[in-house]
Amino acid sequence: DLNKKGLRHFLDTQDLSKKELLELFELMRLLKEARKDNAVPQLFKGKSIAMIFEQPSTRTRVSFETAATILGGHALFLSPKDIHLGAKESLEDTSKVLSRMVDMMMARVDNHSTVAGLAEYSTVPVVNGLCDWLHPTQMLADVFTMIEHLPEGKKLEDLTVSFMGDATNVCSSLAFICTQLGMKYKHIGPKKYQMPKEWQDIAIKNCETSGGELIVTDDVEAVRGSDIVVADSFYWFGQEDEKEERLTTFMPKYVVTQEIMDMAGKNALFMHCLPANDQRECTREVMNGSQSVIFDEAENRLTAQMAILVYFTYNHIQKPSE
Ligand code: CP
Repeated sequence: DLNKKGLRHFLDTQDLSKKELLELFELMRLLKEARKDNAVPQLFKGKSIAMIFEQPSTRTRVSFETAATILGGHALFLSPKDIHLGAKESLEDTSKVLSRMVDMMMARVDNHSTVAGLAEYSTVPVVNGLCDWLHPTQMLADVFTMIEHLPEGKKLEDLTVSFMGDATNVCSSLAFICTQLGMKYKHIGPKKYQMPKEWQDIAIKNCETSGGELIVTDDVEAVRGSDIVVADSFYWFGQEDEKEERLTTFMPKYVVTQEIMDMAGKNALFMHCLPANDQRECTREVMNGSQSVIFDEAENRLTAQMAILVYFTYNHIQKPSE
């Protein structure tokens, strides 16, 4: 029944239409402006968000916690050491209990099935704070940063975004949101680590309605003419035993160096969700260079989380269409 009343989860940018994504970017703009004036409306007053973290986090944790505080609410940090998540208590029961106490849940999990399981049984909105194949909250910050830095006369649909490296959760979510919004998206990486067909199919389907384009290639020359170049880690949690093989495959060819940025174009911007392993997937020179917007991107995690708290709280209670 709650679904009929408008319970919305945010597990994937694909859960939102293009219109809803654009609404969120506008909400982000308004909330960022309001924060500058110390005038953010207390739209989360008396409310709380449970934040479940199976993996460490700097940006996601601090941005959600700070966003809840700025909006007048409260955030609870819950690690698996602190709660009975899937041990001693089923995911179903944890989700049902938290739903009775908090107004939203956010979970950073090892496996997508955990956040999907929380959503299945929750009666409050559940947000995916990163899983093994998606990072949707990061995408709001990333595209908002692209909007803030749009070259004069260009629209989002005109942008070409090149992601260099492994098919990470950022690579997949960025492919989805860019193609949802009508951009050209290139995944440039070694064949063995390119986006699997199922992910490509989602992005290709998006392109059919948005007019976007997906290119997957191992040819570094494809970076030419990009508006945005994105790097991400070459290995992640659970892949430590593949570290040597991965580093040998990706380095030095797919490292974002100043030469790669020059090849992309003098106006191309560099993005990275951070944390970065400088001197691996990108150089410190690029991170600190004039084309880098990585710290605007990091700041916009807070902008995005404020909008997520507001949008999903109020969408849940009163969908505009109802
Ligand atoms: N980009 C990102 O998710 O950062 P954290 O791992 O620090 O949350």
